[in-house]
Amino acid sequence: MAKKEIATFEELQETLNRLNNPGALLVAGKEKSNPMTIGWGSVGIIWGRPIFAVLVRPSRFTHGLMESWPEFTVNIPSLEMDKIVNFCGTKSGRDVDKIAECKLTLEPGHKIEVPSLAECPIHYECRIVHKNNVIPSELINEITSEFYPSGDFHTVYFGEILGVYRNK
Ligand SMILES: Cc1cc2nc3c(=O)[nH]c(=O)nc-3n(C[C@H](O)[C@H](O)[C@H](O)COP(=O)(O)O)c2cc1C
Repeated sequence: MAKKEIATFEELQETLNRLNNPGALLVAGKEKSNPMTIGWGSVGIIWGRPIFAVLVRPSRFTHGLMESWPEFTVNIPSLEMDKIVNFCGTKSGRDVDKIAECKLTLEPGHKIEVPSLAECPIHYECRIVHKNNVIPSELINEITSEFYPSGDFHTVYFGEILGVYRNK
């Protein structure tokens, strides 16, 4: 189904609800795009721009893709897509073609070179304007021991939201 552009924060509540459960699908990579489930992210305003910040661990295949091309899409799945969200959050693009396995359809970006997922009713198109690694010495112990027992500290990618699209 074709999508139309909507106001940047129009679907913020739905976006945060889905991100929290079951997760959203981050697509990265221009030549070979790969979907990865994310459960963490932050939408807000920084540097006078709307920003979608996502956190990707260096061990993810997606991390290399984020480093190879400075754009990404965040795709908000429908409730029926739980199995796909789980698959994309447990399998790596290093080993499987998740687009083919999940029978997902890539749609060219409107404002960026990275595609979105046609099956997701909402998507965000973002260009990376800043990135930063989580600094272990600056993190409280409680979070370090809960989320980083083996290191693999996330890189935080700050994506300026260039467009938000929703099914007509
Ligand atoms: C619900 C859920 C949320 C997740 N959130 C994140 C996240 O925010 N950041 C991250 O690096 N990995 C997250 N993961 C793990 C990755 O999705 C998972 O390791 C995936 O297989 C990596 O795919 P890739 O190697 O193709 O990049 C999450 C997994 C699930 C199931």
